[in-house]
Amino acid sequence: MCHLPYCNEDPNLLVGIETSDDAGVYRLNNSQAIVQTVDFFTPVVDDPYSFGQIAAANALSDIYAMGAQPITALNLVSFPIDKLEKDILLEILRGGRDKVREAEAVIIGGHSIDDSEPKYGLAVTGLVHPDRILTNSGSKQGDYLVLTKPLGIGIIATGIKRGIVKSEDEDQVVQTMADLNKEASLLASEIGVNACTDITGFGLLGHLHEMMKASALKADIFTENIPVLNSVWHCLDQGMVPGGTLANLEYLEKYLESFCSLDWKLILGDAQTSGGLLLSVPEGKIEKLLSKLNTKNGCPQVIGRVYSGEAGKISIYEAKINF
Ligand code: CO
Ligand code: CO
Ligand code: CO
Repeated sequence: MCHLPYCNEDPNLLVGIETSDDAGVYRLNNSQAIVQTVDFFTPVVDDPYSFGQIAAANALSDIYAMGAQPITALNLVSFPIDKLEKDILLEILRGGRDKVREAEAVIIGGHSIDDSEPKYGLAVTGLVHPDRILTNSGSKQGDYLVLTKPLGIGIIATGIKRGIVKSEDEDQVVQTMADLNKEASLLASEIGVNACTDITGFGLLGHLHEMMKASALKADIFTENIPVLNSVWHCLDQGMVPGGTLANLEYLEKYLESFCSLDWKLILGDAQTSGGLLLSVPEGKIEKLLSKLNTKNGCPQVIGRVYSGEAGKISIYEAKINF
């Protein structure tokens, strides 16, 4: 699919910036297209090795969201070289390298600058067959929506900073962020889904809204099917709500029809770091996909369904989906 004005510039630009997709895609020949993305941020956890893993998993995720295989990556590093131990930087880089290896890709270089605040991430290049690109704009009426990681990462990260999260629950959220979306992406591409995106800063609601807007459809979602991380309710009871989550809900308000509690809206709008994939799956393929995906932390879950209606609209029901 192509949109103005990028098509006019270059017919090989298959996915540009105009549909707010996860990465850009450029056709090299009839059987290969490159997928490119870049992402970096300040530490989300105290442990430098875990931070490196999470930042890398998050950057790789946009390649997986396009149904592509990552091939190469470049390190992007900001570090206060005379304020912090160099060992901390080495641990961040080791975490990133290990995740890139797990993705069966390779780090081929990078760039670092002296900066007051540490930041880390990757620029990643992947490969995909031009006919097998997964975009956020191909959703069809009647599709089931599948989520592959539980929600609540942003809310719990705020709770961790305030010291109210038990260590085993902290381990769960760190592991969830560090998990690659590799397996879900491979299966989605193999079995064939109509649309795919990953859940990051705009939360489930924000990324689902983008998918529905780009596909000119609406979605119904059901809170009783939404998988959440262990300490999310405890953190909400203590008032742990990140600013980004509130901003998401404020922006999305006009697209939402909600029959649910404010707590559920906060969870659904919660800004995620390295969240799961959101897949729009045809009815005929849903059983096969679910039977092949590994289960972890209550995922994957069928969380809703796609209908014709006002483009980008989302209705939220505090109920269970008929499935
Ligand atoms: Co993305
Ligand atoms: Co991104
Ligand atoms: Co350089």
